[in-house]
Order: sequence, then structure tokens, then C-alpha cells
Amino acid sequence: MKPKSGKYITFLPDGIDVLVSQKDQSILDVAVREGFALDHTCGGFGTCGTCRIFIRQGLEKLPPRNEIEADIAEDRGFQDFERLACQTEPMDGLVIERPSKDVRNRD
Ligand code: FES
Repeated sequence: MKPKSGKYITFLPDGIDVLVSQKDQSILDVAVREGFALDHTCGGFGTCGTCRIFIRQGLEKLPPRNEIEADIAEDRGFQDFERLACQTEPMDGLVIERPSKDVRNRD
């Protein structure tokens, strides 16, 4: 059971609630810090698309895509719920799913 304070996001398919640090600027930052395997070939600059995730809950909490993400989303035909982890703010209550080939890389 998670404490009532702090911002949490839930990672699927693991179903693990993760506390967001004040240093986390993006969902990618949270995933990397917590040891979730999530590709990020361009290093978080929004140009590769490999950090694509699915927002399963909380999409309404997110601001619109920034210009960098909007360009790649249009180019690749993303659905509204498909976002780039490196360009998406880790808002409290989000439930996100990593593509199925990803595996958690921690003990
Ligand atoms: S890490 Fe390349 S687009 Fe997000």
C-alpha cells in the first residue's frame, strides 16, 4: 500500500507503483532511475521514438504534446494514448504501460 503523500505513477505490466522524485523531469527519468527497461536510443531528445509508452489511466492529466513530440507522433501516427516517455511529465496517478518486449531490469 502506497503512502498518501508524494506523486506516484504505476508501471504496467509489472503493476508497480513508483514514487516520483523531484528530480524526475519525465516518465523516462522515473523508468531509468527505477531500473525499468525502456529503450531510449536518442538519450531523451525526442527524436527516436523508442521510449513510446501507452497511457492507460490519467491521460486527461497530461498537457498537450510539446512540439518535439507532436512532430514524431504525427509522423508515426500515434494514437492519443501513445506518448514519448522522455517528453511526458510524470504526473501523479498516471498508469503507464511499456511495450511488451520490455522487461524489468532490476533485482
Ligand atoms: S528517448 Fe528518443 S524519443 Fe524518447
